[in-house]
Amino acid sequence: MDEIIIPRVAIHMTWRCTLRCEKCGAYIPEIYRLGLVTDYDYVEIKQSLISLFAITDRIRVITLTGGEAILHKNIVDLCEFLLEHQEKFDRVDFQTNGSVRFEDKLLAVLSKSNKFQFFIDHYGPDISTKVEENVERCKQWGAGYQVRKYYGVDAHMNGWIDWSPRKEKISKEAAQIQFMHCANGRPDRRPFVIYGHLLTLCAMPYCRYRIGAQPLEDVLTLDLTDENIPAAEKQKRLLEMRDTDFNPGCQYCCGIGVDPYAKRYPAGKQMER
Ligand SMILES: C[S@@+](CC[C@H](N)C(=O)[O-])C[C@H]1O[C@@H](n2cnc3c(N)ncnc32)[C@H](O)[C@@H]1O
Ligand code: SF4
Repeated sequence: MDEIIIPRVAIHMTWRCTLRCEKCGAYIPEIYRLGLVTDYDYVEIKQSLISLFAITDRIRVITLTGGEAILHKNIVDLCEFLLEHQEKFDRVDFQTNGSVRFEDKLLAVLSKSNKFQFFIDHYGPDISTKVEENVERCKQWGAGYQVRKYYGVDAHMNGWIDWSPRKEKISKEAAQIQFMHCANGRPDRRPFVIYGHLLTLCAMPYCRYRIGAQPLEDVLTLDLTDENIPAAEKQKRLLEMRDTDFNPGCQYCCGIGVDPYAKRYPAGKQMER
């Protein structure tokens, strides 16, 4: 059998965040408004990864994200766990909004492998207030980092896009076309996401479900920690998700990922609290 190589898996650590970005793709301000702010359990995340590692040969890129992943109380433990399983992946990208100081313990772990790097998203000096300090600390510790400057004339990706859910559900046929043309539907780039014990395909359907904008039954999921599902079954389901030509969640998606010229908005613009 061919090796099973998965291009991207994000781990959504928490719905907590230090910021309230108006157009946040994870709908964080709405999650706060609805009182749905939670962290995923570390033991559960670890079990999910053990299960995923057992049914795949390699993951190209693992992304740590949220919310603000750095706020999770076990973030250092998780990075240590990943360090012990380096043979299973090529890279870990640690996304952060530049508003939280990197602690020594975290820097100590991330500097142990050049497979780890921070992606420091800079939303402007009044918002991402710890960018310069964190860059200096990465240099001191020898930890990998990249700053993505999301403001000013040369803003990364020209800013953000509007991920608001679609108001009316579209047909399966229309959603299928949308999926196959979407940046998140391209077979060589399809991003998987872990939410606690669940593995999903593309972050947006599950995020919409969390804010009540689509039903859970239309989110493609695999329960990675379910002991009643044998590993071979889990692997089959994973490959079905990887190779599918229909993601039911696309029926609720505005389809913005299809359009490389979609209107851009200032990244990280803060809402009133
Ligand atoms: C939801 S954020 C979580 C990570 C972290 N809190 C941060 O902001 O970097 C994950 C990534 O999505 C990007 N993002 C969030 N909302 C977006 C939007 N509406 N359009 C494009 N990218 C977006 C962020 O810049 C970040 O790189
Ligand atoms: S920093 Fe902004 S984009 Fe990132 S998770 Fe928080 S609210 Fe969303």
